[in-house]
Amino acid sequence: MDEIKILGIVGSLRKGSYNHFALKAAQELVPDGAVLSLVELHGIPVFDQDTEMAMPAAVLEFKRRILAADAILFATPEYNYSVSGVLKNAIDWASRPYGESAWTGKPAAVMGASTGSLGTARAQYHLRQILVTLDMPVVNQPEVMIGNAALRFDPGGKLTDEPTRQQIQTLLGALVQLAKNSPRSTRQAT
Ligand code: FNR
Repeated sequence: MDEIKILGIVGSLRKGSYNHFALKAAQELVPDGAVLSLVELHGIPVFDQDTEMAMPAAVLEFKRRILAADAILFATPEYNYSVSGVLKNAIDWASRPYGESAWTGKPAAVMGASTGSLGTARAQYHLRQILVTLDMPVVNQPEVMIGNAALRFDPGGKLTDEPTRQQIQTLLGALVQLAKNSPRSTRQAT
C-alpha cells in the first residue's frame, strides 16, 4: 500500500515555536506506513484579492504541497483567543481563487500548544469552524490541547510530556484512518 503523506502546517513563525516543536514530536510518532513533512509559513505575503489570479510563487508552492498531501495536520498557536494571523492568511490564500481551493475534501487533524492553561482550545474551535467552509473532514478525537507548553518541552524543544506524546500518536493514527477512508483524498483521486 502507498505511504500516507501528511503535511504538517506550523501556525507560528517564531524560531522557538512550541507548535513547531509539537510537529517535530509528531514526526517521531507517525504510524508505520505514513510520513509527516512540515511546511512553514515564512514568505507567504499578506493576502490581497487583487493578486489572487496571479498568485505569488510562495503561495503556489504552498498550494502544491497541500494538493500533494493525503492529509493535513494543523498546529495552531492561540493569539487573542483565535488562530494566528499568519495561519488564517495562509488558509485564505490556499482557498483561492474561487473554485480552486487546495483544501476541499482534504482530511485534517488539529492540535495546538500555548503557554496558557487552555492549550489553544479557543483557537482550535475557531479553526474547526474555518474547516467547515473549507469542506475538510476533521478528526474529532482526541483533542490535543497542549497547555502550559513551557512545562512540557525541554529547553532543546523536545516534547517530554509522555501523556501529550501519546495523545499526538493517537491523533495521527486517527488521521491516517480518516485519510484511508476519505473518498476525496489524493490517494483515491490518483
Ligand atoms: C499570545 N498567547 C496566548 N496564549 C493563550 O493561551 N491564549 C491567548 O489568547 C494568547 N494570546 C496571544 C496573543 C499574542 C499576539 C501572542 C504573541 C501570544 C501566548 C501564546 O500561547 C504563546 O506566545 C505561544 O508560545 C505561541 O505559540 P508558539 O509561537 O510557541 O508556537
